[in-house]
Amino acid sequence: MTIQRILTGIQATGELHLGNYAGAILPILEFAKANPDEQEVFVFCADWHGLTNKDKFEKPGLYRNKVLACLLALGYPVDKHVLYTQSSIPEILEMVWYLSSSIHVGILERNVTYKDALQNNKLPTVALFNYPILMACDILAVKANMVPVGKDQSQHLELCADFAKSFNHMTQTECFPIPKAYLQDNPVLPGNDGRKMSKSYGNTLELFADLKTVQKQIKAIKTDSKSREEPKDPSDCLVYQYMQALGNQESTAYMADKLRQGNYGYGDAKADLWQAYNAVFTPEKYALYAELQQDSVLTDMLAEPLEKVRSIVVETTQHMRQALKF
Ligand code: AMP
Ligand code: TRP
Repeated sequence: MTIQRILTGIQATGELHLGNYAGAILPILEFAKANPDEQEVFVFCADWHGLTNKDKFEKPGLYRNKVLACLLALGYPVDKHVLYTQSSIPEILEMVWYLSSSIHVGILERNVTYKDALQNNKLPTVALFNYPILMACDILAVKANMVPVGKDQSQHLELCADFAKSFNHMTQTECFPIPKAYLQDNPVLPGNDGRKMSKSYGNTLELFADLKTVQKQIKAIKTDSKSREEPKDPSDCLVYQYMQALGNQESTAYMADKLRQGNYGYGDAKADLWQAYNAVFTPEKYALYAELQQDSVLTDMLAEPLEKVRSIVVETTQHMRQALKF
């Protein structure tokens, strides 16, 4: 049986929040429950991608450790699957150059990330223009078969498949298998102001923030003015959406029932949400998260997976050189 290779990346552009947890981290932890005899999961922190947007140039080095520590503290099984940092594998950038030689500028000009930047008068950098090539190389470097991503990334995945095909065609080789996108349809979690929860809007419920801050952020969740007695519709209730985002089905069903029945106020719901947060983000996980952010601890823990993934990428780079008769 051939083992399916599943790969996904998370950017390191700010403090992680509940939207990242529901939309990216939980799905990764679910994938990583897969049997390693059937599927290998590769997850990496896309820290180089953090340099594609000059306006959001926010210490990718600092946030890289937070992303990795968060995944590890929440139980990503690094003994079975792979976790690494993009910037630990310089061969990916060598691949970027080789792949660039088979891609026309016009194709990248149609990319939405670049067009959005132009439309918003953002003066895009060359790094932003090349973003889809870097992303394609992340994927092709390990010859991934499947890439779980949010819908916003679907064009990048189409480009990646096109790039793989045109490199194979140009070099008359089967250098790359054509990767498939696995588009995830996770709902967008709103922040406290109703807009998408996002660090750029400052409307987040931050993961692993100090407990006083979390408690304050939970207390501040906006609700309507229904009395404690009145029955409430869970789908209109932000506290309920945050409970859903935490991913515990039992507590979520309990809150839905209580809201519908009435005699359950928003204060009660917030107290239950606070409890549910503490059940996921336990003191042990807080301690682990703090410890794992240290460079030396992370380097140690990720040494073996890094060796594994780097040897795969070195081999892929070699295949590209041969294909180009370089
Ligand atoms: P970002 O760094 O903001 O691009 O977020 C990284 C990933 O987290 C995204 O690709 C989404 O999968 C997820 N994500 C971010 N914000 C939200 C949100 N408000 N609701 C759901 N998922 C989100
Ligand atoms: N561009 C992705 C995002 O913004 C992150 C990413 C970079 C990625 N390289 C990747 C995702 C390769 C999947 C595969 O969310």
